[in-house]
Amino acid sequence: MRFSTFSTSSLGKKIYMGVMGLILSSFLIVHLLGNLALLSGDKDHFNAYSHFLTQSTGNVIYVIELIFGIFFLIHLLYGIVVTWGNWKARPIGYKMVTNAKGASKKSFGSTTMIYSGILLLIFFVIHLLNFKYGEEIMYVTKDGAQIRDLYITVVHFFTNIWNVVFYVVVIVFFGFHLSHGVWSAFQSIGVNAPRFIRFMQVFGSVFAFILTLAFVYIPIFIYITGGAQ
Ligand code: HEM
Repeated sequence: MRFSTFSTSSLGKKIYMGVMGLILSSFLIVHLLGNLALLSGDKDHFNAYSHFLTQSTGNVIYVIELIFGIFFLIHLLYGIVVTWGNWKARPIGYKMVTNAKGASKKSFGSTTMIYSGILLLIFFVIHLLNFKYGEEIMYVTKDGAQIRDLYITVVHFFTNIWNVVFYVVVIVFFGFHLSHGVWSAFQSIGVNAPRFIRFMQVFGSVFAFILTLAFVYIPIFIYITGGAQ
């Protein structure tokens, strides 16, 4: 099959979407591990990590951000195209379609993929404006280095209960996206022998549950403790 034919075929779009989704999930693991430094009780830990990423990696970080940004856009674009195609093919309405047997069983996650995806896009804009491009407070670390106090920016943000509620709601909703997306991606790329499907469904749910719980814990923890001083 020619590359252009494959890219526009129904299977090709699903494979691209799945592969991009899995790569984007790997970013989440790294992002979560870095963010766990927010819980350490010493703000130098998180600020040193953030300083390393933004200042000490040269142009590498920009290239990685660009690649992930492009992957995110491809994932979103194909998500919209595939969902649009499904809606057009089912004039009686998606919600009225009864469950198929076995692996194609519908769930809250599977029927809300497009909504949780769009919500994540809105979340990204707010997230980056508040943190990455948020207030630039500088301070001197215990080692005498003058660097950005991103930690305090995050703590300020999460002292507002509505910001915490917003994050919790978005992350939980996104957890359903992840839960369905992970096993569905494996299925699209061909890991679909019956015994693997059950395993992938459980794996997707456990993976999404752990990530959701950990991401949700951070804002709640900061709100309750007020962060390290
Ligand atoms: C408790 C939850 C979270 C916290 C505290 C948090 C914190 C941060 C911070 C501080 C930055 C700026 C990093 C820097 O400029 O050095 C950032 C960037 C980012 N975050 Fe989060 N984040 C959270 C959840 C999420 C979630 C759930 C996603 C995606 C689903 C996400 C995606 C991103 C992306 C894409 C960036 C930009 C990375 C870059 O440009 O290098 N974050 N986050």
